Amino acid sequence: MKLKIGVIFGGKSVEHEVSIISAIQAINNIDKDKYNIVPIYISKEKELYTGKNLLKIENYKDLQEIKKVSKAVTLCKINNEFCLLSLTGLRKVVDKIDVAFPIVHGAGVEDGSLAGYLDTIGVPYVGSRVLGSALGQDKVILKYVLKANDIPVTDFVWFYDSEYLVSKDTYLKQIKEMGYPVVVKPASLGSSVGITYVKDEDSIDKAIEEAFEYDRKILVEKAVDNLVEVNCSVLGNYHHQEVSILEEVISSSDILTYQDKYIGHRKMKGPSKGMVNTDRRIPANIDECLQKEIKDLSILTFKALNLSGVCRIDYLIDSKKNKVYVNEPNIIPGSLSFYLWEPIGKKYQELLDDLIKQAIDEYKISNKKVSHFQTNILENFEGTKGIKK
Ligand SMILES: Nc1ncnc2c1ncn2[C@@H]1O[C@H](COP(=O)(O)OP(=O)(O)O)[C@@H](O)[C@H]1O
Ligand SMILES: [Mg+2]
Repeated sequence: MKLKIGVIFGGKSVEHEVSIISAIQAINNIDKDKYNIVPIYISKEKELYTGKNLLKIENYKDLQEIKKVSKAVTLCKINNEFCLLSLTGLRKVVDKIDVAFPIVHGAGVEDGSLAGYLDTIGVPYVGSRVLGSALGQDKVILKYVLKANDIPVTDFVWFYDSEYLVSKDTYLKQIKEMGYPVVVKPASLGSSVGITYVKDEDSIDKAIEEAFEYDRKILVEKAVDNLVEVNCSVLGNYHHQEVSILEEVISSSDILTYQDKYIGHRKMKGPSKGMVNTDRRIPANIDECLQKEIKDLSILTFKALNLSGVCRIDYLIDSKKNKVYVNEPNIIPGSLSFYLWEPIGKKYQELLDDLIKQAIDEYKISNKKVSHFQTNILENFEGTKGIKK
């Protein structure tokens, strides 16, 4: 019997629509001889829907209408099976899944929230667990973990809004000592939202205030000069990793903006890739030595952050000094970064197949570990006097 793959996408995130594109691409490429697809769409209102109307990209032109022609459900475990239970009309099981395949982007879903939900009900799923997903979400914690593993990251200063309010001069002094230009970022956003490139101290305060509109925690990073941005995808888990070809992404200004990523400068041709409209060069135009360094760092980063599935690790390079810094991991990259695997001979269908197989293998392995005790210490419980002091 064919395995049922529940592709979960959408969610309340600034990358909602990008997730729909990534999910439909994946659905179109999954081997239908081996798998049956069950689409599970999370609306911007955080409701779950399923149904065949969710399989076509043209049905998403009106995000309210798509909900009306789909079935509102919840994903739960009933009699050891993972069921989509109808929330309207009769409470019946609309569909079942064997493996979940999250293709979500952004905070509130990709940050470990969805992984946590799937872990709680125990469904096998593709991709990183809670820890790996969450680590990439806070740019400050991420840098500390990478530094502890001797992985190069840019210098930075970080603080909360309340700290900045009372010790502004101290932080501005620290930033000055680190040296301008700097890049101001909200700690846990994505898609370049709230990020400003600051050339000198005249405009730092304004940039920090802007970042605080999005997050209570921000970081100010030393800007990388002569910037070249390169990305590398990694596929695997803690004991086996493969690396892809490298891509170079090209921005129109000091930093790669939301405009560069999603709105773009060129007309969209053919299937969308990764950051939907980014200008890119594949393979990246960098020397072999640097390519090797980035590929090695990608494996180290993947392992240090407890990642699994397919991810994309983004780099900032000072092209004059040939100095490489890890910028951030994307634990569920746009388009699952399939376009970085095809040039080295792994078709999209094969990539998806690898990911599903890996999810099943990891589920089997983790089920062999002791996760609970058969005994029930509450069996003879007689009120609080029984509690061990
Ligand atoms: N330290 C830096 N020096 C120079 N440019 C940077 C630096 N950090 C970020 N950028 C630019 O800003 C963009 C967005 O920053 P990033 O940390 O990747 O945030 P996001 O999570 O929003 O993608 C990067 O793609 C790059 O163009
Ligand atoms: Mg980025």
